[in-house]
Amino acid sequence: MKIDRVTLMNFRNYQQASVELHDGINFIVGANAQGKTNLLESIFLSSVGKSPKNSKDKQIINFNAERAKIEIDFSTRAGKKNIEIFLDKANKKSIKINKLNILKLTELVGTLSVVYFSPDELKLIKEVPEDRRNFLDISISQFDRPYLYELMRYDKILRQRNAILKSDASVDAKTEQLKLFTPQLIASAKNIISKRLQFIEKLKGYAQNIHTNITLDETLDIQYSYSQKPDLSIEEDLAREYERVLSKDIELGYTTIGPHRDDIIFRIDDKDCKYYASQGQQRTVALVVKLALMGVVRDEIGEFPILLLDDVLSELDMDRQTRLINLCRHYQTIITCTAIPSVDFNVNIIKIKNGAVV
Ligand SMILES: Nc1ncnc2c1ncn2[C@@H]1O[C@H](COP(=O)(O)OP(=O)(O)OP(=O)(O)O)[C@@H](O)[C@H]1O
Ligand SMILES: [Mg+2]
Repeated sequence: MKIDRVTLMNFRNYQQASVELHDGINFIVGANAQGKTNLLESIFLSSVGKSPKNSKDKQIINFNAERAKIEIDFSTRAGKKNIEIFLDKANKKSIKINKLNILKLTELVGTLSVVYFSPDELKLIKEVPEDRRNFLDISISQFDRPYLYELMRYDKILRQRNAILKSDASVDAKTEQLKLFTPQLIASAKNIISKRLQFIEKLKGYAQNIHTNITLDETLDIQYSYSQKPDLSIEEDLAREYERVLSKDIELGYTTIGPHRDDIIFRIDDKDCKYYASQGQQRTVALVVKLALMGVVRDEIGEFPILLLDDVLSELDMDRQTRLINLCRHYQTIITCTAIPSVDFNVNIIKIKNGAVV
């Protein structure tokens, strides 16, 4: 995939701007607070439908305006496409794909594929399991819409099951009612878990290669916290587990196991990164995972997504910068930086000053 042009109107600190992007590396260069991250945010929003910072629409619209618009012209294997996002301080946002209104946000997902990395992405390694599950769910949904629907189905059944667990009914009555919901939950959980396991397996393959490429001497391992028992199918295993925790679930009033509680474990040389890796190692792993995701998505959709890198260079030493930029040449990459690093091949340089291209 390749973005040809981003056109912004009253988006953050941009009043009116049009940015042309090239294949390969595009450096977005400027001093602090000029609009570099805002530009990446506009692209992410056009891909996922919401801000990576979880900002509300009215925070995104320029302070002095009532409405904003993002327009992206891009090329895919299937031809030229266009996305328009209309933001309004008073109304809900509306979205057009190829000039046609879409009714649900889920229709947008997968149209423009991006992989986004910001310094904030460190939470993938450091923070709570929910951040890692979000990473899994957003990544897989990008190329697998049935997975997204399965997540919604799971969430609905889980809420029904939790409502029973929390109700005032007797333990016997609850146990009886759960006989209906637990098998449904297991069927849905199995679909989610098996897709996550497949995804992690592919991701790990790419990540280990890239990680060795960048660090030269460390080994990375990635593991989904659900490990399949050799003698049981996922369904059989889950059925046994739900049975095992039934009285605990009833006592606590919610479902204590399942894909909504799972996690990913990253290890460098067999040590869990969350507890043992240095700041620089954690950064490297988070970045490597995003680069690996580029490969996984390419295998699924038949073309590379667009790589958005916010402020990554300032965190890396010169050798790592060079190795990283070299890896990114193979796809369209948009990198923000405050100074242009020296490279010995062609790159596109876009200078941003005070919400305008100069
Ligand atoms: N709704 C808005 N209207 C107008 N300006 C805004 C709005 N939201 C944020 N800004 C401003 O946009 C400016 C640029 O922000 P941005 O995060 O893009 O900077 P940056 O170029 O990435 O800087 P840095 O190098 O520090 O990361 C900020 O000064 C911010 O105050
Ligand atoms: Mg920034």
